[in-house]
Amino acid sequence: MPADIPLSVWPTAQRNARAQRAGRYVEISGHHPAKMLPTIAARAIATYSAPGDLVCDPMAGIGSTLVEAVHLGRDAIGVEYEENWAELARANIAYARGQGATGHGEVVCGDARHLPGVLDPAIRGLVALVLTSPPYGPSLHGRVTARPGQGIAKSHDRYSTDPANLAHIGLTGLLEAMRTILSGCRQLLRPGGYVAMTVRPWWHDGRLIDLPGRLVGVGEDAGLVLYERNVALLTGLRGEGLVPRTSFFALEAVRKARARGIPRLVIAHEDLLVFRNPPAVSGSASIRSLREPRDLGDQRRSHAEPHRLAA
Ligand SMILES: C[S@@+](CC[C@H](N)C(=O)[O-])C[C@H]1O[C@@H](n2cnc3c(N)ncnc32)[C@H](O)[C@@H]1O
Repeated sequence: MPADIPLSVWPTAQRNARAQRAGRYVEISGHHPAKMLPTIAARAIATYSAPGDLVCDPMAGIGSTLVEAVHLGRDAIGVEYEENWAELARANIAYARGQGATGHGEVVCGDARHLPGVLDPAIRGLVALVLTSPPYGPSLHGRVTARPGQGIAKSHDRYSTDPANLAHIGLTGLLEAMRTILSGCRQLLRPGGYVAMTVRPWWHDGRLIDLPGRLVGVGEDAGLVLYERNVALLTGLRGEGLVPRTSFFALEAVRKARARGIPRLVIAHEDLLVFRNPPAVSGSASIRSLREPRDLGDQRRSHAEPHRLAA
């Protein structure tokens, strides 16, 4: 990870995930095993896009990016591989609209590796922000139910059983797929547009895989410029202290690792990697200007070409 890029810490878990979604997402959204915190999505959208802009999530899950975008007056388009999650994302957008959200949202069921073919060619070059998160392996923490005298039961811990879902193709396959997806995103983005991606390191066979670091390289291979890296907290802040919001299984995994002498810590944040699509003109001066911290406001406004999805 380059040392010279701006970094800030976002207090995105002052309320727990359940409280953030209550009354804002349909109840069965909890069946998806790895959702983005609504506060992370809302802050990223408010920071890297403006009202009337078009926001895209190529791996939309239950539609957290899309829901928060339409609540903030942006239009939103998502792609999700699994029909059941795509359906849930549509239900969440309809729910948001019922609550007065003014943006329009759509979800296409398809494979993000074929993004330019899956989405309407009319939106090419118009997307202001791609906000997404890749799947991290086949099995996640899901939900825990205590059964008296029988231990605990795990449920809702898988995206799907389809071997082609990116959750099931291993690290090398995932990195290759992300290179393709980010190249497709570049075709959708307007010059100077943003890609913001939440990602966590990944434990495999007792080793920490630096997925954020690997994805920085993948984004740059796709022609994007790393712009910022932010730390989106998954733990609450109260004065000088932290309010832990760690799942049962995450704590269990750390305890087991420590019992084996591995000094493992609970992960309490998501990395939010932010890239920019270079302007159409080439040259290192323009790339450098993309990296200048907080030059966004004016650039963002000057690039704004509001695009409304059909009502
Ligand atoms: C980490 S989850 C995204 C969750 C989403 N940010 C939300 O808040 O609901 C990753 C999603 O990528 C989907 N996915 C996996 N392979 C895909 C592909 N080839 N194209 C599009 N989506 C895919 C998974 O089914 C999963 O829902």
